[in-house]
Amino acid sequence: MDQINQPIPMSSPDLGEAERQAVLDVLNTPDLSMGPRISQFEEAFCQWTGSQHAIGVNSGTAGLHLCVRAAGISTGDYVITTPFSFVASTNVLLFENAVPVYVDVDPRTGNIDTQMVAAAAHDLMAGGEKARQWLPPRGIETGRSLKAILPVDVFGQPADLDPILEVARQYQLQVIEDSCEALGAEYKGRPAGSVGDFGVFAFYPNKQITTGEGGVIITNDDAAADFMRSLRNQGRAVGDTWLQHTHLGYNYRLDEMSAALGTVQMSRLDELIAKRVQVADWYAERLSEIPGVETQVIEPFTTRMSWFVYVIRFAPGIHRDRLAKKIGELGIPARPYFAPIHLQPYMVERFGYRPGDFPVTEDLGNRSLALPFSGVMSEAQVETVCRIIHQSL
Ligand SMILES: Cc1ncc(COP(=O)(O)O)c(C=O)c1O
Repeated sequence: MDQINQPIPMSSPDLGEAERQAVLDVLNTPDLSMGPRISQFEEAFCQWTGSQHAIGVNSGTAGLHLCVRAAGISTGDYVITTPFSFVASTNVLLFENAVPVYVDVDPRTGNIDTQMVAAAAHDLMAGGEKARQWLPPRGIETGRSLKAILPVDVFGQPADLDPILEVARQYQLQVIEDSCEALGAEYKGRPAGSVGDFGVFAFYPNKQITTGEGGVIITNDDAAADFMRSLRNQGRAVGDTWLQHTHLGYNYRLDEMSAALGTVQMSRLDELIAKRVQVADWYAERLSEIPGVETQVIEPFTTRMSWFVYVIRFAPGIHRDRLAKKIGELGIPARPYFAPIHLQPYMVERFGYRPGDFPVTEDLGNRSLALPFSGVMSEAQVETVCRIIHQSL
């Protein structure tokens, strides 16, 4: 069995001299927060997405939370969303004591199943026993209102948004698009994040662009944008002094070093996405030769894929965890991705979920493995990862 000489990281940011200089330039000014860089960074998102407002925040989670507040989602409200996601898309609902109403996902892509979204919305509006079947097993009353749909653009591929928008229009629901994994992707030619009422991006160092930590919300709703700008800044509204707080707010501000770094990264977004496409293509080519390994399906409506992670699935019968352990010992990190949210201990305790509740999500959760992935990976590294997987299988 081959051993590798250099460890291959799970992910790596793609940073150059321009990024370093941009951060140093900020350090030579007195404005380390709430200066001019945040506006420049936000402007780059308006340009990229065509949205009227972009609001920089200090994480994707913070961005999603502000959207939940701006959408008026509060105690007891239902929000249709997916259990095949990173926990933040559910947690922001729980922060406001709202109820995540899960529907299962499309087995081909891992994105929310839009027929189930339509069926759930119909039944939740009808109420009674029909509504009950969609609600968490424990601790939830029927008869509350359905407020929103929160789809997630999984692994860099947009959810099928048109049918979701149709349901939203029919029942007057808001759509919050969790595009934290999909900056730069396009749905039928439209930028991910810009299709619903709100879209959110995130910039942890494994993302398409990074600011260290950070996020951006986009929206065309003027009043919601003002409200979210206020909430990110401790609830200070336009015209408030430093110790006036019109709303209950948070410190979700993005600092100037991060914004400066992000502005340079945004200027390179096409290049950064193209490099990730190249790495994904190398993977696809080599993995196609390995029996029992499935790669990501890209839908025709995904007019531009923006690879965030490279996730493969093993055919039933292959022991994913044993394989991950084995390749890990040989220097190849790999992780199950996603772990279904409804089976996280705090969700089981609060809502009484059990294995089997969302079979497609659980099946994907059991068979999927995220491989090392970034735009700075070399073809030789991809070759090594694939060779070691092949030998280990
Ligand atoms: C789908 C999804 N939603 C939300 C987030 C949260 O972003 P952050 O880590 O910046 O809070 C992430 C981050 O990985 C994510 O993948």
